[in-house]
Amino acid sequence: MDAITERGADFLVVANRLPVDLEQLEDGTERWRPSPGGLVSALEPFLRRRNGAWIGWSGRADMDVASFDDDGLLMHPVRLSSDEVRDYYEGFSNATLWPLYHDVIVPPVFERSWWDSYVTVNQRFADAAAEAAAPGATVWVQDYQLQLVPAMLREKRPDLSIGFFLHIPFPPVELFMQLPWRTEVVRGLLGADVVGFQMPGGAQNFLWLTRRLLGLEPTKAAVRVRSRPGSVPFDGRQVRVGAFPISIDAAGFNQLSRSTRTSERALKMRSEMGDPHRLLLGVDRLDYTKGIDVRLRALRELLVSGRVDPESVAMVQVATPSRERVGQYKAMRSSIEEQVGRLNGEFGRVGRPIVHYLHQPMDRDELVALYCAADVMVVTPLRDGMNLVCKEYVATRHDLDGVLVLSEFAGAAAELTGALLVNPHDSDGVARALEQALTMDPGEEKARMRTLHRQVMTHDVGRWARSYLDFLDPNAATANATELQAVHQ
Ligand code: ADP
Ligand code: G6P
Repeated sequence: MDAITERGADFLVVANRLPVDLEQLEDGTERWRPSPGGLVSALEPFLRRRNGAWIGWSGRADMDVASFDDDGLLMHPVRLSSDEVRDYYEGFSNATLWPLYHDVIVPPVFERSWWDSYVTVNQRFADAAAEAAAPGATVWVQDYQLQLVPAMLREKRPDLSIGFFLHIPFPPVELFMQLPWRTEVVRGLLGADVVGFQMPGGAQNFLWLTRRLLGLEPTKAAVRVRSRPGSVPFDGRQVRVGAFPISIDAAGFNQLSRSTRTSERALKMRSEMGDPHRLLLGVDRLDYTKGIDVRLRALRELLVSGRVDPESVAMVQVATPSRERVGQYKAMRSSIEEQVGRLNGEFGRVGRPIVHYLHQPMDRDELVALYCAADVMVVTPLRDGMNLVCKEYVATRHDLDGVLVLSEFAGAAAELTGALLVNPHDSDGVARALEQALTMDPGEEKARMRTLHRQVMTHDVGRWARSYLDFLDPNAATANATELQAVHQ
């Protein structure tokens, strides 16, 4: 195990958010609760077992929170002022980079003052990491909010092993070139020893950009990123670039789904919904990339055309509150709630809505019970770096039934080929896939789920972390293997 000693931590994760979020309750008291999103769900179980340190924001503006030990994981909170939350987090991270990297689904906003704040905050994270890391430590920087940290950290601490991993898609060159600060971002990332992406396409896009913007010639093997990560020479070092598709704590989800409490809760949920013949489920952050509207439209199409009987189906849509002050998110929430209201108005009856809509965070136990209750999981993002929800659903299907409808535009589609893959831009195609899922015969359902289940159970987050960290530091490969074995026991 890595020790956190007076000299600093040997293994650090640096991410915009800590894995816990400081929440203020109505009576004025405060409590820590799990942070939203896939980054935290994936990394937290791994890091807890590694006794490392985590540098991140507490989720509240203008608050100084002292470092604390949370069950063996050392948390170093970074302070953000309310102006920085507006400019760095809501602005540059979530109204510039997020839409730009997700195929410009909504137009990105380019704002000089947001960029300035992004630089300032990235420097603060880099300074915090430089201070907390032991000599020669491994520092693993996460996601689009912190793309300048690798270079800033290297400047202060050239002794460190620095990794960077992007959880969201990395866009095609033509889109990335819109960014006024494109060269600065690429230089920031090149401060890492390893720049990791979800998909080979993202790694390839990045390599092309280093050539286009900085004239770097990839080292020979670099063009073959699919089979072998490549590298580019930069600043007297070789920066290695590759694809590492992230996953989930598959054994943890599977185990929870096997408990009697979970199966009882799942049955109760179904009965509370009037025991529909088939239950559809969607679970997403309320984000315009997730295509929640796509699946609601497809369901409406099936009901309007009479291909599906409203008495035989129900749907649960969990839409976790997210980035609620960002304009594009506000607009989308109203339109989705309008769609839900319309469906229930037209096809529900008293005590029996068609869509059960929950705009709230949920405990892991309750979420797993929902996965177990659902016959069809619908995941239809217009673009998604990976999508962990679909992997979580599959991990809980130990009985090998259940159908997954999955967008081709989620990174997970490359692995989960047993799903009914859909193009979320093709409404007729999505409606057809939903119909097929609702009427699939049990033999086909089991055969498909068997393939999916095997893939997810054998490619979990432990394997992902090991493949990345072994690549970052081949000398630590044996140590990582031992620690990760412990994760699975
Ligand atoms: P993203 O990272 O874009 O939010 P992912 O599908 O990769 O999308 O990850 C979402 C994560 O958030 C999953 O681990 C899922 O279990 C969790 N999650 C989604 N909705 C909720 C909710 N209402 N309450 C708690 N966790 C949720
Ligand atoms: C995605 C991003 C994460 C982010 C999460 C939740 O998973 O890749 O970096 O933390 O969404 O979003 P939030 O803005 O609430 O941190």
